[in-house]
Amino acid sequence: MTAPAREFTHDGIAFGCDYNPEQWSPDVWDEDIALMGEAGVDLVALNIFGWSHLEPRPGEYDFARLDDVIDRLHRAGIRVNLGTATASPPAWLTRRHPEILPMAADGTRRFPGGRQAYCPSSPVFRDAALKLVAAVAERYGSHPAVALWHVSNELGCHNALCYCDESARAFREWLQARYGTLDALNQAWGTAFWSQTYGEWGEILPPRATLSAANPGQALDFHRFSSDQLLDYYRAEVEVIRPRSAVPITTNFMVTAHIENLDYWTWAGDMDIVANDHYLDNRLGDPTTELAFAADLTRGLSRGEPWLLMEHSTGAVNWQPLNLAKEPGELLRNSLTHVARGADGVCFFQWRASVQGSEKFHSAMLPHAGTDSALWREVIGLGATLDRLDEVAGSRVVADVAMVFSWESWWTANTESRPSQSISYLDQVHAAYDALHAHGCAIDIVRPGADLSAYSLVVVPGLHLVSEADAATITDWIHAGGTALITFNSGIVDEQDSVYTGGYTGPFRDALGLHIEEFAPVVPGVEVSLSDGTSGRLWSERSRATTAEVVATFVDGPSAGLPALTRNTFGTGAAWYTATLPTRDAYRGLLSRIAREAGVRAVAETEGDPASLELVRRRHDDGTTYLFVVNHGADAAEVTARGRELITDEGVAGVLVVPGGAVRVVKETTGDVAGIHREEVAE
Ligand code: GLA
Repeated sequence: MTAPAREFTHDGIAFGCDYNPEQWSPDVWDEDIALMGEAGVDLVALNIFGWSHLEPRPGEYDFARLDDVIDRLHRAGIRVNLGTATASPPAWLTRRHPEILPMAADGTRRFPGGRQAYCPSSPVFRDAALKLVAAVAERYGSHPAVALWHVSNELGCHNALCYCDESARAFREWLQARYGTLDALNQAWGTAFWSQTYGEWGEILPPRATLSAANPGQALDFHRFSSDQLLDYYRAEVEVIRPRSAVPITTNFMVTAHIENLDYWTWAGDMDIVANDHYLDNRLGDPTTELAFAADLTRGLSRGEPWLLMEHSTGAVNWQPLNLAKEPGELLRNSLTHVARGADGVCFFQWRASVQGSEKFHSAMLPHAGTDSALWREVIGLGATLDRLDEVAGSRVVADVAMVFSWESWWTANTESRPSQSISYLDQVHAAYDALHAHGCAIDIVRPGADLSAYSLVVVPGLHLVSEADAATITDWIHAGGTALITFNSGIVDEQDSVYTGGYTGPFRDALGLHIEEFAPVVPGVEVSLSDGTSGRLWSERSRATTAEVVATFVDGPSAGLPALTRNTFGTGAAWYTATLPTRDAYRGLLSRIAREAGVRAVAETEGDPASLELVRRRHDDGTTYLFVVNHGADAAEVTARGRELITDEGVAGVLVVPGGAVRVVKETTGDVAGIHREEVAE
C-alpha cells in the first residue's frame, strides 16, 4: 500500500462506460452526452488511450479537447473516471526509443501498431509515461468532475511477460533481492538438473524460448517478477497522482478465464477501490457460471467490500473465434449477477461503437444501428433497473463457504511438462465452483493463508503450490472442527516449485489420511467408474488410505480398486478428498452431501432445481437485506421470499415467482430472513 486508501463514493449504483470521444467530432459529443443522460449514465471512463492526442510531440501538451469533453460531461452531471492516458505509447516514443518495445520469448520484438507496445521494466517508457501522468494529474487533479483515477488500462493484458534485455536486467535485480545469493537461487530453481547451475548473476535470463522444456522454477519466478513489475509501475503512477489530487485511484483488473499473468492477491491492497473487467468467454462450457466465479473472486480481492465492474460488453466482443451476440435479457442477467455478487457499479466497454480500428465489430452501449435497436432499449432498461437498486449500494455479501484460489497454483499446475495436458488448474476450480453454485450457496473466494474462521465449509480445488504455513491454516481449521473438500493435485509443490515427498498432497497428507504414491491420469473422453455409481474424468491416483474412510473406489481405469473418494476425521473436523474430477452431476451430488454435513444452507429455498438460478443475498450493516434471484432458465422459478421486489415494485408474501430469463431483487422484510432459509441444502 503506497498511501492510506481514499474512499470512492457514488450516489447509488454507478452506471457507465469507456468513452472515446477522440474517435468522433464535437457535434457527436453533444449527442452522446444527451443520450448518456437518457440512459442514466453517471460515470464515464475517459482518456484511456489519450497519449498521442494529449502529447502529439515530446513534451508538447494539448489539453484543449480533453478540457472541453470533461467540462461538457460535468455540465451534464456525469462524473469522470479519468484515465492517465498511458495505456499505449505514441508513435513518436517508440520511433525514438525502439528499445522500449516488448520482446517475445523467442527474442523477436513486437512492433507498435496495436497497443501496450512497451516493456514494463523500461525506464525510458516509465520516465515518459510519468511525465504525462504528472501533467494530467496537475491539470485535472482538482476538477470537480473527476471522481476516480483510472491508471493506464488493464495493465499487462498484452505485455505482462517481456523477455528483452531490460527485463533481464530487472529480473536479475528482483532475484538478487529475493534470494541474496546465487547459491540460494540455484537451490530454489533446482539448477543441479541438466547442468543449469549459475556461476554469475549475469548468466541469468528470462525464460526465453529453449530447445527443450525450460526450468519451471525460473518460469515461476519470472511470473512473480512480471506481476510485481507491473504492480511497481502502477505504484509509480499513483505516487505521481497522490500529491496532485485527493481523488481515489484504481486500475481495471482482468479477473477472467483467459488472463493469468497477474497475481491480483498481491495487487488488491493497493487499490482505493477494486475494479474489474469481465467478458463472457464463450469458449468455456458454462460462461455464466464463470462470470459468477469471477465476480466472487473480485469481491474476494476487495475483501468483501463493494467493487466496480469497470468493463463488460452489451453484446458480442470481437476477439474470440466466434463472437456470440447476447440473448435478449442476457445483458440484464449478466449485469445484475455482478451487482448481486458485490459490484456497486456496472460499466461497459464502450459507449459508442467504433467505426474504425480493430474493435469496430465490438458491441457498445450505442450500437452502429443507433437508438432504434433492441440493444439500445436493453441499455435504457438496464439504466432504469439500476436506478431502482440504488439503495443496495454499500451492502455486502455474506457467505459461509470459502474456496481457495491461487494464481501461483495456476502458473505452476499448468507447467509445460506435467502428468496430463488435458486438465488445467482452472478446469478444477470451475468444476468445484459449479458444484457449489448449483446449490445456491454463497461462496467467498479467498487466498491461500486466509482466515477461515467465518466459514462452515472450505473447498480447495487443485491447490498445486502451497506453502507449509498456508496449508496449516487449512488443516488447523479442519482440526478445530471444519469440513473441507480438497481435490487432487493439491499440496504437490512448495513455494519453490519443489515437490513434497513421502506421498503426495504433502502438507495435507495427515489431514487427508492418505498415502498417494502415483498419478495415473485418465485418457480424455474416457470416464472411470466409481464404486458409488458415479464417474470421474481425466485423473486418477494410486493410493492407500492410512486413516481415511474410503467412500468410493475406482472400479476401472488405471487405478482400479484404489481409493477415489475419501473422508478423514481429523481432530474434530472432516477432510474429504477426491482423486478424480467427478462428472458434473457427480460433483454436484458430492458437494451437496458435504455441504449438508457442514450445515451449509442455500441462500434461499427454491422450487425445483436451483442450478439455473443465481441466488445471492447482500446485507447492509443495519441488517437490511436484498435477495437477488437471476433466472438463467427458460421456465419460471419459485423462490421463498418475503418483502418488496424492487424491479417490479410488488410485494412478495412468501413466494417469489421469477419468470424465465428474468431477474428479481427482493428487499426482505426484517425478521423473516432466517425463516426463509432451508435447514438443509438441497439433495
Ligand atoms: C479490454 C480493454 C478495452 C477493450 C475491451 C474489448 O477490456 O480494456 O479497451 O479492448 O477489452 O473487449
